[in-house]
Amino acid sequence: MSLRWSSLIAIAAVLLVVGIGAALASYFAVRREAHRFLDKQLQQVAVYALDARSLRPAVRSTRNREDDLLVQVWDGADAPMRSTNPAIAIPRSSGTGFSNETVARHDWRVYTLVEGERTVQIAQQIEARTELAEHAALGAVLPIIILIPVAWLFLGLVIYLVMKPLGRIAVTLSARSAADTTPIPVAGVPSEVLPLVTAMNHLLSRLQQTLERQRRFISDAAHELRTPLTALSLQIGNLRPLARGAALNARLDDLEAGARRATHLTNQMLQLARLESGTGELTHKPLDLGALAEACIAHLEPIAKARGLHLSMRRNSEVPLAGDARQLQTLLTNLIDNALHYTPPGGEVTVETVDDGRRGIRITDTGPGLEPELLERVFERFFRAAPQHVEGTGLGLAIARSIAQGHGIALTLANRADRSGLVAELLVSARPDRDIAGGQAEA
Ligand SMILES: Nc1ncnc2c1ncn2[C@@H]1O[C@H](COP(=O)(O)OP(=O)(O)OP(=O)(O)O)[C@@H](O)[C@H]1O
Ligand SMILES: [Mg+2]
Repeated sequence: MSLRWSSLIAIAAVLLVVGIGAALASYFAVRREAHRFLDKQLQQVAVYALDARSLRPAVRSTRNREDDLLVQVWDGADAPMRSTNPAIAIPRSSGTGFSNETVARHDWRVYTLVEGERTVQIAQQIEARTELAEHAALGAVLPIIILIPVAWLFLGLVIYLVMKPLGRIAVTLSARSAADTTPIPVAGVPSEVLPLVTAMNHLLSRLQQTLERQRRFISDAAHELRTPLTALSLQIGNLRPLARGAALNARLDDLEAGARRATHLTNQMLQLARLESGTGELTHKPLDLGALAEACIAHLEPIAKARGLHLSMRRNSEVPLAGDARQLQTLLTNLIDNALHYTPPGGEVTVETVDDGRRGIRITDTGPGLEPELLERVFERFFRAAPQHVEGTGLGLAIARSIAQGHGIALTLANRADRSGLVAELLVSARPDRDIAGGQAEA
């Protein structure tokens, strides 16, 4: 359970227990006080009636209100001298003080005041007194009962506000990319959470160093591999004139293909490592992606011809953006190269500009396409969906996506509607900072 909910439930439970305790305590206290107040009232009326010249009987008896006081005044005689309700006869008591009597099927609270020959008795129905006391007690409890849920609401609001900075940190962290190792901002972080954020920042900094070391190792290893691989290719070339016989030449062909694959893999790894470490001279200049695609096509035309494919370009509109021409050329080359590589001879590869409200480049081929669940997986490093005998490293699309992300370009793959080939789409972001106006931007 979240910290917010557990603290809210715990404090709300404490509030409920305290509230119920306070309500019960005030209920009993107010009820006791009400009884005391009514007793005092009986005493005061008795003192008043002792001196009163007359008491008019039956003045209020017709109304028969239960909470009316019954007053009886006795002199020497056996029957009361005066009474506010002669129909009810409270038995005469001999001493001053309170007593409870049952008369006319009702319980009465009676106060008797004796002075010389005269006795005054003031009586009140216990039922009416209890009702009055209950009423007063409930009046005291009601505000407490109403205040408990109101306090819960305020409590919820306070906990929400207190926990808000934590929520902000969580949102900031979840919005980060996996490669982002910059420290989490500590401004506005509550002091209780600060040690946690500081520890996370230390961890991030160590992580960044480790990642950096790893990238440098891959980059150095790939770089170091290039020299012996070049030497190996040269040696194979030198062996060619000396090789006699078809069998030896076939062996040399295999060797040459192996060296070529190793060189390609090394180059791809080096390129990816450079992209991820952000090294290499980068320029962000205003350019047209369509023009770059055209240049790539001119470059790849011989490969298309050799494979018996028809490669064409439809450039209907400009696709302006600010970027690094070499990287963007690599991105386009990798995509067009894939289309040429995986489309069987006789097929068609079309490169066109997108101008349907969005801006970008679309590369369509007539190859086998991809299983829908692989359309994203092929961007993973070293993931290949092609048969083993088809050459490739599985790094081309990872490189392409890395370049695209660095330029704010959305790169997606989709099958053609009738599954008659693959469509690779590059859509330029409409963000102004990535636009042509960007000129020299960050590396
Ligand atoms: N146009 C395409 N048609 C069908 N499959 C494709 C297409 N483009 C890519 N693929 C699949 O995606 C996989 C990954 O492609 P990617 O470019 O990353 O690596 P590669 O082509 O195998 O090797 P590299 O590009 O590094 O030489 C390929 O192995 C292939 O199975
Ligand atoms: Mg490829």
